[in-house]
Amino acid sequence: MKHKVWIKPDDIVFEVDSLQTLLSAAQEQGVSLPYRCKLGACMTCLCKKIEGEVEYRLEPMLTQQEQQQGWILPCQAYAKSHLVLMLEE
Ligand code: FES
Repeated sequence: MKHKVWIKPDDIVFEVDSLQTLLSAAQEQGVSLPYRCKLGACMTCLCKKIEGEVEYRLEPMLTQQEQQQGWILPCQAYAKSHLVLMLEE
């Protein structure tokens, strides 16, 4: 199943299917997101989810509180719905 991902504030849109992380889908479609390790360890890809739901295959290195505040790791996150993410400059 495919979901759309909107990146704010630049209003970039790409699609992700349920077998891809958000970061790998973005890279496949030429959308540049910050990253380094792709392993969920460096926090370079950290960004804020404004709308939608993600899931992880492995428990992310984020506290429950950080997750409740909307912080996600796109290199480890899979979309469960359409998403709106905020990418700070
Ligand atoms: S790229 Fe390192 S945590 Fe996502």
